[in-house]
Amino acid sequence: MSVMLLVLAQPAAAHPQCLDFEPPFKPLWHLEFCAQYEEFGCCDQKTDNVIAERYWDIIDQLEVAGDELCADTLKEIMCQECSPYAAHLYDAEDPYTPVRELPGLCFGYCSEFYGKCRHVVKYLTESQLLRDTSERDVSTFCSVVDLSDRDYCYPNVLKSPDLNSNLGQVVEDPRGCLQLCLTEVANNLRNPVLMLHSDDDTHRMFIAEQVGFVWVYLPDGSRLEQPFLDMSGEVLTTPWLGDERGFLGMAFHPKYRDNGRFFIYYSIQVNSKLEKIRISEMKVSAYDMNTADPYSERVILEIEEPAANHNGGQLLFGVDGYLYIFTGDGGKAGDPFGKYGNAQNKSALLGKSSAH
Ligand SMILES: *[C@@H]1O[C@H](CO)[C@@H](O)[C@H](O)[C@H]1NC(C)=O
Repeated sequence: MSVMLLVLAQPAAAHPQCLDFEPPFKPLWHLEFCAQYEEFGCCDQKTDNVIAERYWDIIDQLEVAGDELCADTLKEIMCQECSPYAAHLYDAEDPYTPVRELPGLCFGYCSEFYGKCRHVVKYLTESQLLRDTSERDVSTFCSVVDLSDRDYCYPNVLKSPDLNSNLGQVVEDPRGCLQLCLTEVANNLRNPVLMLHSDDDTHRMFIAEQVGFVWVYLPDGSRLEQPFLDMSGEVLTTPWLGDERGFLGMAFHPKYRDNGRFFIYYSIQVNSKLEKIRISEMKVSAYDMNTADPYSERVILEIEEPAANHNGGQLLFGVDGYLYIFTGDGGKAGDPFGKYGNAQNKSALLGKSSAH
């Protein structure tokens, strides 16, 4: 199972995407070389510099050969890596087919390119097919370089108002819904139930699995090998995918940065029979900011659970500084316990959100 983050994106018709499958962005710094993409595209300054270096290497070789006709076209082609439509141009959207070595060129443009630049193909790509066809004839070469989708081949992709009018804007559809796209931030997790940050400027993300592990993800997306917290020995759950019991909630204290306190919510079984949910406070280790102190647990509240389902589990701090605990109604179906169920019973802690 994987965890996805919503990223604001584009109108429905347009679907800009970079070669790494990430959404395009406004680069932090000015782009010297592929300057047309410095407002919105797929290159940061570093990638821009790498492309420029490759370009000047090729130009050097062309000068030796006395052939510089192609310089502008070459630059145009090389900068397509920075296009907000790079994934379309290079056919990178399908991870099961190889990424193109050259951007997809519309036939007319490709013919021009062939006329001026066929001798640079050998510097641009290692692909034997492209190199061979560049020495054969224009129609063979351009049928290889062509992109079957007319709207997205270069330079058509620049001309379509549908694709370009709202680039980089957050767009609403006619019903007022924002257009969003998803980006994967983690995978290979077992029933991930929550993702939190600790609001301490470390920019770590904490992802909890229902079986009772909390993992630390660093800002670069990598996951630390040791879990932040391992409650798998205490937590009651089963391998059954639909089990609603387990490690269900966690919240960092608003002053976590100073006091290292956080709160957890999980299912337990007492004397191998009675089932409860438990809410505890814990602290981070005094020696390692990426590990919880396993001996720090202080139980705050335990509530008996009459059934295996509907266990709630959300823990949140309000702006008032109180910890809010959201409990389920105790389970079965239709809140059947007591005279009028648990949720409407003010003496029952089940089926409530309560502040502490
Ligand atoms: C309300 O909940 C309490 C605590 O679980 C229980 O003792 C009581 O019988 C319930 N009342 C009704 C009317 O169901």
